[in-house]
Amino acid sequence: MTELNKIALKIISNGKGILAADESNGTMTKRLEAVNITSTPKNRLLFRETLFSSDSMKDCIGGVILYDETIKQTSSIGKSIPNLISDSGALPGIKVDTGAKELANSYEEKITEGLDGLRDRLKKYYELGARFTKWRGVYSISEKYPSQLAIKSNAHALARYSALVQESGMVPIVEPEVLMDGSHSADICFKKTSEVIKKCFDELIFHKIDLTGIILKPNMILDGSLSKNKISNEEVSIKTVECLKNSVPSEVPGIAFLSGGQSEIDATENLNLINKNNDTNFIMTYSYGRALQQGALKIWSKDINNIQTTQNTFNHRAKMCTLAAQGKWSSELENK
Ligand code: 13P
Repeated sequence: MTELNKIALKIISNGKGILAADESNGTMTKRLEAVNITSTPKNRLLFRETLFSSDSMKDCIGGVILYDETIKQTSSIGKSIPNLISDSGALPGIKVDTGAKELANSYEEKITEGLDGLRDRLKKYYELGARFTKWRGVYSISEKYPSQLAIKSNAHALARYSALVQESGMVPIVEPEVLMDGSHSADICFKKTSEVIKKCFDELIFHKIDLTGIILKPNMILDGSLSKNKISNEEVSIKTVECLKNSVPSEVPGIAFLSGGQSEIDATENLNLINKNNDTNFIMTYSYGRALQQGALKIWSKDINNIQTTQNTFNHRAKMCTLAAQGKWSSELENK
């Protein structure tokens, strides 16, 4: 077993999942302003520190993805944020892409940037305690899209990123996100997601990536958010497992889904059914941003100094996700 494989397994084994708390300052400002909280470095830290010092960190969270600002911050008890996280038993991770920009010659699509200077940035993040990283490619579905240009160029960037991250001794989370925006069917999402993921692995293999030392972070197979016909959660889980079985090489240790705008309950229930229907060797868990934080953020915004109530809400959500990552979640447990 390689060191990278050990790190990947430490993050996602035994029902543990990933807390994606790597919103850029722009995205975090939108999230905070939506609940009438001013977005300052202090408030962003306060909310995140509240989550990172919750009880559920020990049993449920194997890794936390941080943003550049947060990995350099110090908690109210004087610990660095990476130390606060590793003291709970989880591994600190870091988002290293610098965002999705207009793709030249296909201006309605996006290409993720951040390769320039990446090798040096990775060294600094490793020194700060990071042991894994994230890079998100984003693809939208319409009649024309995603284009071959977007599929190929984002796969290439994900592979170059992964090579540099593994060279630095960290595990890359490879995140090709096919967005749920639009009125497309789940079958189209299946087709496009399969194509995107296969292309990513073509490039990862071409760039000699150790596939046992990565974590794939894909979307689930869903109807577009504007589609009138919604397939059932059971169908979502069957299609999602089928898609991944056909497009992910068997060496990959695990898959950690993004929530992508699903409600907390849908993201939990779908993950639970995915695990019940999982006839692959892949660990299937969560790497949720919104679906782990939404409820806690709402409660926290009512009184930002009420740490306990915020943590209770987060603990419950993390516990439910961890049950779902083992196929042991139920609506009775959810509402207990
Ligand atoms: P969501 O779970 O909110 O989609 O966020 C996960 C993530 O890290 C997106 O890049």
